[in-house]
Amino acid sequence: MSNPRRFRLPTGNRRAFLGSAVAGGLLPSRLVDRAVGQERLTLNQAAATVHPLATQSAMRILRSGGNAVDAAISAALVLGVVDGHNSGVGGGCLVLIRRSNGQLLAIDGRETAGLAAHETMFVRDGKADPSLSQNGPLACGVPGQIAAFKQMHATSGRLDWKELFADAHRAASEGVAASKSIGRTIAAEAVQLQKYPASRAIYFHPSGKPIAEGERLIQKDLANTLAMISEQGPQWFYDGPFATACETYLKSIGGILTREDFRNYQAKTRTAIRTPYRQYEVIGFPTPSSGGMHIAQMLMMLQPFPVGAWMRSRPDAYYHLLCEVMKRAFADRAYWLGDSDFVDVPEGLLDPTYALDRMSDFNPDQASMGIEHGWPADANQQANSPHGVSSSEDKKHTTHLTTADDEGNWVAMTCTVNTSWGSKVTIPGTGVILNNQMDDFSISPGIPNAFGLIGSQANAVAAGKRPLSSMSPTMVLDSKGQPVLTAGGAGGPRIINATLQVLLRVLDGGYRVNQAVDAPRVHHQWQPDQLLIEDQIGVGTSLEISPDLRKQLMKLGHPWKASSSIAICQAIARQGDRLTAAHDPRAQGSSEQ
Ligand code: GLY
Repeated sequence: MSNPRRFRLPTGNRRAFLGSAVAGGLLPSRLVDRAVGQERLTLNQAAATVHPLATQSAMRILRSGGNAVDAAISAALVLGVVDGHNSGVGGGCLVLIRRSNGQLLAIDGRETAGLAAHETMFVRDGKADPSLSQNGPLACGVPGQIAAFKQMHATSGRLDWKELFADAHRAASEGVAASKSIGRTIAAEAVQLQKYPASRAIYFHPSGKPIAEGERLIQKDLANTLAMISEQGPQWFYDGPFATACETYLKSIGGILTREDFRNYQAKTRTAIRTPYRQYEVIGFPTPSSGGMHIAQMLMMLQPFPVGAWMRSRPDAYYHLLCEVMKRAFADRAYWLGDSDFVDVPEGLLDPTYALDRMSDFNPDQASMGIEHGWPADANQQANSPHGVSSSEDKKHTTHLTTADDEGNWVAMTCTVNTSWGSKVTIPGTGVILNNQMDDFSISPGIPNAFGLIGSQANAVAAGKRPLSSMSPTMVLDSKGQPVLTAGGAGGPRIINATLQVLLRVLDGGYRVNQAVDAPRVHHQWQPDQLLIEDQIGVGTSLEISPDLRKQLMKLGHPWKASSSIAICQAIARQGDRLTAAHDPRAQGSSEQ
C-alpha cells in the first residue's frame, strides 16, 4: 500500500496559525462590508419560511410597525396552523436573536421530560421499544414554544402580543388549502393518527379518508386555543385549562405528563457560542442543541484549508474534506453531548487546538477508517464517565424560519414537533397535537432514534431534562459586529451539515445566498459510514455533484447513497445595504424582502 499523504499542520503555535488563517486572504469580495463605518445603513426587511402564508404574515407584521422578533413569532404561529406536521404550539423551538443594539439572545424553548420520566421508561421486557418514544402519550415532552415566544416578546418584541396571533387564528378558523406535504404526511402517518379520536376528527373526513393536498383544513379547536393564549397569555397554556386537559387525557391513555410538569416549564436564556471564522464571527446555539457546537467545531477544523478555492476548482477535495470533518464532529456528538444542565459537556470541544488535533490524521487521499470520538482537554476520562457510545431516513419534519428588519434586528428560529405530526396525539377540545421529542433522547445505548442517531448516557432520559437537538439557528457577524448572514434548517441531524454548507458557500465561496441555499449538499453522520449525496440537485450546472465526482469520492473511500433532500434551509444575507432572503427550493416556501 502506498504511503498515504498526510495533512500537515504548520509547526509552532497552532493557535497563531489559526489567527493567520483568519487573515489569510481567502475572502470573497462580495460580502466585504462596504457601507458600515459610521454611516447609517438603509436596510430593507426580509423573511423566509417554508410556507407563503407564514412569509406573508412576517412581512405584514414588519410593514405594520412590528420588528423582526414580532414577525418571527407571527410567522411561526401561522406555520403551526398551515404546516402543523412540522411545528406548532405542541412542540418546541430554539431561537437566536440579534437585537439592533448588538445584544445576542439564545432562547431555549426545547421540550422537557416530565417529573415521572426515567431512564428505562421506554424499556419493555428488557428491551428498548422505540415505538413508545416515537408515537403515543409517552413520546411527549412539555411543549416549549409558547414560553419561548413570550420570552422573545417580553425581551425584544414591539407589537401587542395579541396582534401576533391574528394571522394564525384566521388561518385556523377559516381554514387553508392543505399543502402537498400536509397531504403526504397525513396519508403516511394515517395509521398512528387514526388511533387518537381528536387527531382523526381534524385530519380525516368522516369516512376515514385523509385530508388531501388542496382540500380545506379547518381547525376550529386550534383557533380557540390560539385565541385563549393571545387573550389570557401563556398561563392559560401552562397553568390553566390546557395543562389540565393534557394531564387528564394523557393519563387516560397511559401518559405521564401532569399539570405540575406544565407549571414547572420555563424557557431558558442560554449563552450563544461565538466562533471566529475567517474575518467573521459565527454565532451558534449551545446545548441542548448539538448544532451550534458542531458547526463551530467543523468551522475550526476547516479553518486551515483553502475551502473556497477547493469548492470552486477541486470539488472532490472539498467534499472529501467536508465528509471527514462531519464524521469527526458526529462521533463527538454521539459520545459527549447532552443537556448541559444535567451532564458536563466538555468546553474543550470548542478549543481550536482540539479541532486541529482532531484533523491531525486527515489524509487528503483517503477516507479515515474507524473514527472515534476525541478527548478534549477538560474531559472526564474515567471509565465510568457519564458518556457511553450514530444514520437516517428521508423523514421530513421541523421548520426553520428567519426574519430581519431595517433597524438591524435579526431572528433565526427553528421550531419542531420532531417527526411528522409528533406523537400523533391531539388533546381533545384543543386542536393541539403534541410533540414526540422524547425520541431525541437516547432511549437506550445502541438503540437508534428515528434519525438513526445513537446516543450515550449523556443524552439518557431523566426527569426535567431536555433531549439533545440538531436544530442549528446560526448567525454570522462581520468584523464590526454587524449581521451579514443567518441560516438554519429542518431535517434532523442533516440540519447541522446543511447549515454548515450554506455558510461555507457564502463565506468561503462568495456565492449569493440563494445559490448557497439551492446548491446540492452532502451529509455524513459518522454512523452509518455512508455519505449521502443530493445527486439530482443542480444537475447540468457547475454545482452538480456529477457522476464523475461521485466516482472520485467513492475512490477516496466514501461509500455513498443518493438522497433526494438533505434538509430544508432558510437564510438571509446582507450585501452592502441590502437584505436578501432565500427559501429552500426543496420545499414549497417563500421569501420576501
Ligand atoms: N427533533 C429534531 C431535533 O431537534 O434535532
